[in-house]
Amino acid sequence: GTVVLAYSGGLDTSICIPLLKEEYGYDRVVTVAADVGQRKEEISVAEEKGKRLADKHYTLDLIEPFVSRCLMPSIKANGLYEGYPMGTSLARPVIAEAVVEIAKKEGAVAVAHGCTGKGNDQLRFDVVFRSADLEVVAPIRERNMTREWEIEYAKEHGVPVPVDKEKPWSVDENLWSRSIEGGKLEDPAFHPPEEIYAWTASPLKAPDEPKILTITFEKGIPVALDGVRMKGADLIRKMNEIAGSHGIGRNDMMENRVLGIKAREIYEHPAATVLLAAHADLERLVLTREEYSFKQGVDAKWAQLAYYGLIYEPLWDALNAFIDTTQLRVNGDVDVRLFKGSVTVIGRSSKDSFYSIDIASFDSTTVDQTDAIGYSMYYGLQARLVRKKQNK
Ligand code: ARG
Ligand code: SIN
Repeated sequence: GTVVLAYSGGLDTSICIPLLKEEYGYDRVVTVAADVGQRKEEISVAEEKGKRLADKHYTLDLIEPFVSRCLMPSIKANGLYEGYPMGTSLARPVIAEAVVEIAKKEGAVAVAHGCTGKGNDQLRFDVVFRSADLEVVAPIRERNMTREWEIEYAKEHGVPVPVDKEKPWSVDENLWSRSIEGGKLEDPAFHPPEEIYAWTASPLKAPDEPKILTITFEKGIPVALDGVRMKGADLIRKMNEIAGSHGIGRNDMMENRVLGIKAREIYEHPAATVLLAAHADLERLVLTREEYSFKQGVDAKWAQLAYYGLIYEPLWDALNAFIDTTQLRVNGDVDVRLFKGSVTVIGRSSKDSFYSIDIASFDSTTVDQTDAIGYSMYYGLQARLVRKKQNK
């Protein structure tokens, strides 16, 4: 039968191709490389290798569904997991679904991925794969493979081994985020060398001149930069360039994975840092206190499901429905200043703002302050009564 493999072009997924035939007995291996906005070079390497090593190869452009189904909802949900903008976790379900589609088209009996049994990605692929009632194969996980064994096996099977022995870290990239992990970085105390970064200038060397930018949102989604309307993917790309050049969006952190394993992870996500900061700020202008406080809990739950890759969980749709309702009034402009690694919101405006300078100002007499005296009489009443009793 045929097996369809989610293919990145890296060592893990490349050795899966001969393995799936020799060790698993599939007679046809189809590779699928997904373009979710990573470096073009990575996609062409995957395409070249896939065509050479597999029986059939597909390169799929998934940027549009990735942006509209994952990134825009993530902005609306202020999508942070343990404080960082999720990236890998948002892309995996879209890639997995595309692999399933190809599997159906190719009449495959199985789908495969090259994830380890220690990380999150295995679960994010599996949960989508299993929903399609296909056999799930994960050779790296099932054979408890080590890097050394992989390199040996690759050499024996004419699979090119990357020569970057000096740079032994694993990188995962998409339009929203770049993650760097593994190798020397696995020691949490090890200071990361500057060379691991590719999207961001060192904040120490970023320009001395700040950049001020206006981001326009409609229904919670960024639609324009400095008044120039752009498609979502173009806006994110542009923002990555600008904010990256100012050293924004680096993150070096300990992270709790789904299995409970702690991992040292390093991220770059310049556009995400800026867009999420601007979006959250605009929400504070236009949402009511009740909407805002309730939504913080919803956002946290949304992020957890996204990190876990549980997009088929019915709660996922329910949370998105709630979030979409709140975003109807999240329209307006946010001015940000980008400077040496940090983004600062310096102004915001919205046609949906119900902020009233007339009510809030120290200088206005619209509000009769004596009205608050009665409110204050009952304020904290129960706590005062309990305290009085205890003090007796
Ligand atoms: N820790 C992040 C996550 O779980 C990034 C994982 C990176 N994945 C990878 N295959 N290198 O989303
Ligand atoms: C892996 O273990 O395959 C990559 C890291 C992760 O999935 O979290």
